Amino acid sequence: MKLSDAINSMQFSPIRRFNPIAAEVEAQGTKIYKLNIGQPDIETPECFMDAIREYTNGTIAYQQSQGDSLLVDAIIDYFKRDYNVEYTEDQIITTNGGSEALTMTFRTILNENDEVIIPEPYYTNYNSFVKTAGGHVNPVKTSSEDGYQYARSGMLETALTAKTKAVVVINPNNPTGQVLADEEMEYIADFAEEHDLWIICDEVYREYVFDGLAPQTFASLDRVADRLIVIDSVSKRFSACGARIGFVACKNEEFMQGIMKLAQMRLCVSTVDQVGAAALFRLPKTYFDEVRQIYQSRRDAAYEEISKIPGVTCVKPKGAFYMTIDLPVDDAEEFLMFMLTEFSDNGETTMFAPAAGFYATEGLGKKEIRIAYVLKEEDMRRACQLIRLGVSAYKKKLELLNARIWRNQL
Ligand SMILES: Cc1ncc(COP(=O)(O)O)c(C=O)c1O
Repeated sequence: MKLSDAINSMQFSPIRRFNPIAAEVEAQGTKIYKLNIGQPDIETPECFMDAIREYTNGTIAYQQSQGDSLLVDAIIDYFKRDYNVEYTEDQIITTNGGSEALTMTFRTILNENDEVIIPEPYYTNYNSFVKTAGGHVNPVKTSSEDGYQYARSGMLETALTAKTKAVVVINPNNPTGQVLADEEMEYIADFAEEHDLWIICDEVYREYVFDGLAPQTFASLDRVADRLIVIDSVSKRFSACGARIGFVACKNEEFMQGIMKLAQMRLCVSTVDQVGAAALFRLPKTYFDEVRQIYQSRRDAAYEEISKIPGVTCVKPKGAFYMTIDLPVDDAEEFLMFMLTEFSDNGETTMFAPAAGFYATEGLGKKEIRIAYVLKEEDMRRACQLIRLGVSAYKKKLELLNARIWRNQL
C-alpha cells in the first residue's frame, strides 16, 4: 500500500519537528525556553470563557457553514469601529483558524500547477496550504541586509509568470516582523491590478505593530476590493490559539460562493468556540494597546540581547512577535541540535525554529533562525542570553573538532 504523491511531497512543520527531542531533554530535567512556536503566554481574555459559560443551549448543534451570526456581526462591527471598513454578512465566512481560511482560499482559486507569489521567508505552512490545492509557490527573495523589503518596484515582477494567480502578503510578517508602509501597499495593489491577480492578505497579527505605527488593513484600499481576500484569526490577536477560530473576508461575490462549497463540505466551525470568539471581537480597542506594549517590551529585550552576539545580523521587527536572526553559524539546524542535546547553562537551554523551512529557495536561510517573543520579558532575556552562550560554546566545539582533525592529518 502506498500514500499519495501529494502527501509524500509535503514537509513536516520545521517549527514542530524538534518537539519530540525537546520532550526527551525535558524529561531528563533540563529547562527549555521555547521560542519555536508562536504560542503566546498571555492569558486569553476572560470574556471568552464567560460567554461560553453563559451559553444555555441544551444541545451543541451544528452552526451555519458561514458561521454564527453572533460572531459574524461582531467581526463586521470590529472592522467598522477600528478601520472604518464596511463588510456585510455574506462577505465573511468563519473558519477553523486562519489555517483553514488559507487552505480553503487556495482550493477556491487555484488550478493544478497555478502559481502563487510569496516573498520569502514566509510562514512555512504556506508550502502545504498551496501544495494541497495543487499550486506552486513562486518566491520573491528578500534578505536581512535590506530589511526583508519586497514591496519595491520591480521586485514582485521577478516572480511573475503566465501561471501566476495570486500574490500573498503577510502583514505584519511572520517570520521577519516586517510591516508595510502605505506606499508599499499601493505598489502591491498596482501590481495585482496590472497583472489581474488575487491579493491574499494575511493579517492575523494586524494590531501588533510597534514604535507608534498605526495598525492597518489592506481592506481600506477600495480599488482592490474585488480581488482582495483578507485572512484573519483570533489565535494571535486575542491569545486564543486553541480556540481555532479564523475567517475569510472578501467582497468578491463569485469567490464567496465558491468558498462556501468548501465551508459546507466541512459543515461548520466549533459552535461553542464561536460564542467565545464573538465576545473577543467586542473587547474595547484598549485591549490591543495593552498587549501591544507587552510585545514591544519583549521585542526590545530580545533585540538588545541578540545584538550582543558577535557577528549576528538582525533586523529590528516592526510588528507581529517574531524575529529572524542571521547567526554566525554555518548550519542553524545543527546548532539547534547542539543547543538541545549538548548545551546547557545552569540546567537551562532554549529552542527556536531553524529558518531554512521558511524559504522556498533551496539553500537560503541555512544560517538563520526564527524566534517568537512569546515569553515574559525576563524569560526572553534569559533565552536570548542562552543563544549567545550557545553560539560561543558551539564555535569552541567546532574549533576543537577542527584542531583534532588537523592534528590527525599531520
Ligand atoms: C502568518 C500566519 N498566518 C496564519 C497562521 C495560522 O494560525 P491559526 O490557524 O492559528 O489562525 C499563522 C500561525 O502561526 C501565521 O503565523
